[in-house]
Amino acid sequence: MAMVIALQNLLLLDVAVPLASVGSIRATGRHCGLEDEVQDKPVTPASSYLDDETNVRIPRGLTESQRLRLLELKVASATGWLKDPFVGFDPKYRDTCKNLSNLSEYGCAEGKDKCGGGYDHAICLDDWSPGQGNCLVYDFGIRENPEFGEVMARTFNCEVHAFDPSPITLKWFPTSEVAKLPNYHFHPYGVAGTDGIIQLHEYDWGQVSIVRDIYPPKQPKDFFNLPVKTLGTIMQELGHEGREIDMLKIDVEGSEFSVLEDALDSLGCLPAKQVTLEWHHYAFDPRYGGGSSPSVNTIVNIMHACGLKMFWRHSTTGWMSPEPRYKEAGLNDIR
Ligand SMILES: *[C@@H]1O[C@H](CO)[C@@H](O)[C@H](O)[C@H]1NC(C)=O
Ligand SMILES: *[C@@H]1O[C@H](CO)[C@@H](O)[C@H](O)[C@H]1NC(C)=O
Repeated sequence: MAMVIALQNLLLLDVAVPLASVGSIRATGRHCGLEDEVQDKPVTPASSYLDDETNVRIPRGLTESQRLRLLELKVASATGWLKDPFVGFDPKYRDTCKNLSNLSEYGCAEGKDKCGGGYDHAICLDDWSPGQGNCLVYDFGIRENPEFGEVMARTFNCEVHAFDPSPITLKWFPTSEVAKLPNYHFHPYGVAGTDGIIQLHEYDWGQVSIVRDIYPPKQPKDFFNLPVKTLGTIMQELGHEGREIDMLKIDVEGSEFSVLEDALDSLGCLPAKQVTLEWHHYAFDPRYGGGSSPSVNTIVNIMHACGLKMFWRHSTTGWMSPEPRYKEAGLNDIR
């Protein structure tokens, strides 16, 4: 199941909260057992666990109050402890776009309207004035479908960076038409929540994915150890640090959660004017808010706090993975 949505950055709000004034409190009732127990234990030096980044990274570049607010947003969103736990799906979190396009009108190498599959992400062209030499596009996850980035490069003359470590992409790219474009740059690695090599699995349509098969497959599925980088590292290496990406497309077959969590932790808000994003609903349970899930809700709520508002979604149903078992399990994506 997957669903694509797009957001645009109307206003980059700082997520900082004012520091609360300091006062005194007095305990009036019994302390709970946990507190008593903790008091009896020797104080562990902070460095032994508060600085431990083996599994959870410490957000950099944020003030303490920003980190605290980020944590509040994460916890409250993941537990559904919000006035409206379905942030992003409610009209009050939405925005309208007058000039919406899925780019199909700009055609592809095969001609206009000849490459439907390539146009599953819509963008908003309001206030869009590329071609003035300063338009930056990141296209994460292309498989053999470069159409999105291709239009951005050919029609809008943007500097396009496309990323995909899938073996199918590496094989196809050198023979592709986009390889000839001087402003289209392909990078044979993926975006992720970490820098290094991660294990990705064979997935739909020859792509690789972080998603693991939960049932014993009929044929053993292959896995690949592939290079990945975080958004922050990529921007630094490509010399784009401090710049704002005009169009950020993320279609990375399940890695979107770790990619976005890392980017929001380390960069504060996404350095992007517009984001178009495909969700894979691994934590999806239709009972939880009719389409929201703790992980989607968390990321969406933080992006909303950063000033991004949703202006489009692919369909009200999303689409199914080609494997019949999803259909059999009744796992229709209802948002
Ligand atoms: C893209 O937009 C065109 C016209 O706006 C529409 O006919 C087409 O179905 C859309 N394609 C996709 C894949 O949504
Ligand atoms: C939409 O945006 C495109 C690209 O900037 C432009 O060529 C087109 O005229 C716009 N359409 C409308 C209806 O504003």
